[in-house]
Amino acid sequence: MTAPFDVVPLLAPDTPPPALKWNGFPKYNFIGGHIATEQVPVDQLIEAATTVLRREGAMLSTYNHTGPLGYRPLREFLVRKLKSHAAIDCSADEILITSGSTQGLALVNSLLVGKGDTILVEQETYGSAIIRLVRIGVNAIGIPLDNEGMRLDLLKQKLEELKQKGVKPKYIYTIPTVQNPTGGILSEARRAELLKLAAEHGVMIFEDECYSDLVWTNKRPPSLYAMAKGEGVIFIGSFSKSLGPALRVGYIVAKWDVLSRLQALKQDAGTGALEQMVLAEYCSKHFADHVIRSNKVLSRKLQVLREALAEQFGTSAEFGDPPGGIYLWIKLPDDVDTMKLAQAALAAGVSLNPGPEWSTNKQHARCRLRLCFANPEPETIKQGVAVLAEVCRREFGVPLRSANVEKA
Ligand SMILES: Cc1ncc(COP(=O)(O)O)c(C=O)c1O
Repeated sequence: MTAPFDVVPLLAPDTPPPALKWNGFPKYNFIGGHIATEQVPVDQLIEAATTVLRREGAMLSTYNHTGPLGYRPLREFLVRKLKSHAAIDCSADEILITSGSTQGLALVNSLLVGKGDTILVEQETYGSAIIRLVRIGVNAIGIPLDNEGMRLDLLKQKLEELKQKGVKPKYIYTIPTVQNPTGGILSEARRAELLKLAAEHGVMIFEDECYSDLVWTNKRPPSLYAMAKGEGVIFIGSFSKSLGPALRVGYIVAKWDVLSRLQALKQDAGTGALEQMVLAEYCSKHFADHVIRSNKVLSRKLQVLREALAEQFGTSAEFGDPPGGIYLWIKLPDDVDTMKLAQAALAAGVSLNPGPEWSTNKQHARCRLRLCFANPEPETIKQGVAVLAEVCRREFGVPLRSANVEKA
């Protein structure tokens, strides 16, 4: 018999705790940023894949056959899309295709931050971004949000306070167009103010546009990158939320002095070329119409979720009506601990994101949670919210009433 080999003494310093074994998706899955199955245009992707493979499939024989920045026709599509959608004027050589915007986040962090550095983030922000920063040992300071996005009066105050202490933050990380998790869209006036403050303090802006295609009106303010003409801003985007997170294709837009350094850091021999080729072929013909159709599906699901919450939780759940995206940020009564609720709900087949994992202010977020409404069918959303209300009542005594029925 072979003796078990103990890998633990060999681990590099700071390796994260081991992952848990995956047991499949729960019945009512409200986490993870999955999109709707209807959002994946399978037939047209098959057509695009066939066309592009016939035309240049043999080029899969080489790494990066149109250069290390990524598949050129995809970058050319992005130049057009970013211009019409986000008002960005850039060239294909100012775009680096990445393996999801997750890789973009990792690359920007590798380029700019190390242990002990300070950065500023929206108080409620992308959970995985917080985990990464904690792992690096970065001091991430949260700036509170209102319905629109980051409170710039508080940002100004914090920047001045840090200046007095001799601390210069490396960057301000923001999700200005459909914020994760709160769903707000920062107005053009506030964007201008944010850029002014960042420039005054010599701090970079790191703009994450993961959800910016998912705006119900299909109109959004110009991106920070566009307004600053790229100076002092790094922009990341993704196809995950418009066409499928499993594709793993994202992009960084930056001026060449920054992009060339990010390219040098991206030592992965290239993002999957087949995905890039299929996306380029599909998107040049269909992207704009596709996004309009997707937004109809998503906004309908959001209303189903809002109605189900109102029916099952009554006044115990407070939430807004976000103008886009795939998440609803919800406040429950103050004594509900959503970390505990998440565990109890999971045992009943409902997964949710507890607020503290999506915030730098754990106390403020304690009674808050994020639900992703994109993937479950409308009927599943309704059933899942009813189960969640039942679990919440059992664990915390609220809501007292569901579907207009008094509960013991
Ligand atoms: C704000 C934000 N940025 C980046 C990502 C990473 O997405 P991906 O790597 O799939 O592009 C996510 C995923 O949910 C996100 O919410």
